[in-house]
Amino acid sequence: MTKSNFSFIHKPVLLNESINLFSNQKNLIFIDGTFGDGNHTRALLEKNKTCKVYAIDRDPNVKHNATFFKKKYNERFKFILGKISDLENIALNENLKNKVSGILFDLGVSTRQLKDEKRGFSFQKDSVLDMRMGESKETAADFLNTKNEKEISEILFNYGEERSSRKIAKAIINFRKKKKIEKTFELVELIKSVKRPSKRKIINPATKTFQAIRIYVNNELEELKNGLISAINILKKKGRLTVISFHSLEDRIVKNFFNKHSGKIYNKSRYLPQLEPNNTIGKSLKILTRKVIKPMKEEIEFNYYSRSAKLRAVEKI
Ligand SMILES: C[S@@+](CC[C@H](N)C(=O)[O-])C[C@H]1O[C@@H](n2cnc3c(N)ncnc32)[C@H](O)[C@@H]1O
Repeated sequence: MTKSNFSFIHKPVLLNESINLFSNQKNLIFIDGTFGDGNHTRALLEKNKTCKVYAIDRDPNVKHNATFFKKKYNERFKFILGKISDLENIALNENLKNKVSGILFDLGVSTRQLKDEKRGFSFQKDSVLDMRMGESKETAADFLNTKNEKEISEILFNYGEERSSRKIAKAIINFRKKKKIEKTFELVELIKSVKRPSKRKIINPATKTFQAIRIYVNNELEELKNGLISAINILKKKGRLTVISFHSLEDRIVKNFFNKHSGKIYNKSRYLPQLEPNNTIGKSLKILTRKVIKPMKEEIEFNYYSRSAKLRAVEKI
């Protein structure tokens, strides 16, 4: 991809709010764990003219965005295909442990992924039910066509907080008696047949089911739990971790993790990262966002997708 035909399809969320939490001192190293279209990486590289950003993403399709960045920022930018759960190993390979001043996670999918007709992330486009961000084994179609009714219902309820999970799971099993579920619109129609539209009609009845399947296929909650531990393990003292989440399951994990490791009382949750015996995180964090940061009205008007975003940040002490 050349400089002239690169375009940022994804509108960044809470861009200034997240970038401004990072130091502007010279020659710092930052990690963008969810590179996507690179809006946050670009903002970091432009704001701090001597920093280097290691950009990570699990989706091989972002490689051509990275090529553009490499041409523009040379040695100040390095892209690594990988997952945030593997951040500590990535940092060890790059000799970055205890050298990193800031890490950003901007979770979820990008608009580029949502708009890609071949990937099945969107209930607004008819495409194959894939939903893999990177190299997951199971696709959304595999999940829908092989799991039993109880398993499907539990995933929809636990990962989508979908109250009609049982009805939808039953409809999926009935559909499968006739043929395999292959396309997104088949799933959308099936959900519509058993779920009344919400009072807020702008929310599509398929929203929660699609969210749940995507989280399952990409193992997103485990990714986040392990990503948080890895990030803290590689930050240097006074280094900062900033996380932008998009639904309550993610935000609860982040909030509980930050509370626990800053010594605050926290709500025990089954989603909380389990500390391994050799885990050295302990009470090593200071919370920087005593009140969670949300997008302003203007940002939500400009970018409706940002409406559910929440930003939390900590400093390693
Ligand atoms: C919301 S987008 C990031 C957008 C980017 N900050 C921007 O403004 O252009 C999230 C990106 O993170 C990637 N991603 C999601 N989960 C990931 C994980 N566990 N490890 C690495 N990348 C992940 C997705 O593939 C996607 O490209």
